[in-house]
Amino acid sequence: MRTLRELTDRARELANELVDSDFVRCISHKDADGITSAGVLCTALYREGIPFHTTIVSRPSNELTEDINQEEDETVIFFDMGSGQPDIIKKIDKKVLVADHHPPEYRDEVAYKHLNPHHHGVDGSSEVSAAGLSYLIAREMNSENKDLSRIALAGAIGDRQHLPLKGVNKKMVSEGVENGVIEVVEGLRLYGDPVNTIPKSTDPYFENLDKKKKVRTLLGRLDIPTEQEINKLPEESKKKLIKTLSLMLLKQGANAKSITDLVGNVYSIKKGPVDYAADLTSLINSCARKERYGMALSLAMAEDSYVDKAREYREEYQKTILMELSRVRSRIKEHKSIRTVEVDKQPTKGTLASVTVNCLLPDKPVLAYYVDNDKQEVKVSARGNEKLIKRGVNLSKAMSKAADVAGGRGGGHNIASGASYPLDKKEVFFKEVDRVVSSQLGV
Ligand code: C5P
Repeated sequence: MRTLRELTDRARELANELVDSDFVRCISHKDADGITSAGVLCTALYREGIPFHTTIVSRPSNELTEDINQEEDETVIFFDMGSGQPDIIKKIDKKVLVADHHPPEYRDEVAYKHLNPHHHGVDGSSEVSAAGLSYLIAREMNSENKDLSRIALAGAIGDRQHLPLKGVNKKMVSEGVENGVIEVVEGLRLYGDPVNTIPKSTDPYFENLDKKKKVRTLLGRLDIPTEQEINKLPEESKKKLIKTLSLMLLKQGANAKSITDLVGNVYSIKKGPVDYAADLTSLINSCARKERYGMALSLAMAEDSYVDKAREYREEYQKTILMELSRVRSRIKEHKSIRTVEVDKQPTKGTLASVTVNCLLPDKPVLAYYVDNDKQEVKVSARGNEKLIKRGVNLSKAMSKAADVAGGRGGGHNIASGASYPLDKKEVFFKEVDRVVSSQLGV
């Protein structure tokens, strides 16, 4: 518990800086965790009557720091980035705060105040995400902000820290439950009626249930109602469905964890904008993939005006990712210790790599890449699973090492990492990742 106390004390120091500010400039990362981090903080600032300006970016850049230096803001806070980029952050001549959960290479030299769970013995890859850090700060600004746990939970889910929730995340959700804004029930982690939901699902992905017709036939055979929401099905039907879906996942090669994770805690949230935390995560991600960051942020501030539009974006994205998934087996390239696959649409690469390594081919890390011909660059998402991590794989190390060799940039977490590098080094990069991962596995 000492570690959590230390982390909370540090969060309070950042909260004090923020409440003493006349204006706050917030910079956050473009995924669900980053956007909910900003949503939690902006709501807390709004409640205190402190004006703010938020920008969502993929990473800190020199261009961004130059822009910020020309603005009049006195306090700048970075979420979900910064711990590994002191060279860029230090160019800002304002009071800079950093709240990041990525494994840090640096400590005090990063910013005026730096909040990183790894400095306090808390694992930022599994026990708290940037949204959780934002929640800790908001809670220190005003205890009324405990209701923002429901938004921060959507961030933790975005970074897949909910399977199961641990540490700070668990405490945050219990505060949300006490506050009446989160309800936890055990059920199938699929939201909606079976015929519409199962063919579109990617978490998990059911390779042989990719059409509504196939699901209807299956449900008819099992005598399961088709119209009802999955978690409202009669117990007997639910049990039959779980058993059948689990067997299908097993047959297609899914790892044990994706099968057991089919059933688990389902988090419903109160006070909008949608009924389930996981749904909020997916809608925020859908807006972010379309670079509609304003819409994504408004969802993360519990606004419901853009829910329908976000659902449209999600439908569009689901079609694209399901198309990519339907040909992943034929496109994938085998290397000694990794698999690589090219995608046609850049925003699908993270999900494609993650679904492939969890639901189809779990025995090697998967690198999904997009060739950006305009920029003459390759952009890669690498994903592993818990079993591979236990065997010693660290994709963050492998990707940053290979990016160094290929003259690019890379990093992230042991289980989920990314990189970009010049196109003419395409194969050099994969060869180096394969070499590093092989040595991590001792093969
Ligand atoms: O882009 P993607 O979702 O694959 O990124 C996975 C992780 O890798 C994220 O935590 C991201 O911040 C990190 N990343 C990085 N450097 C890059 C690309 C991604 O550190 N060039």
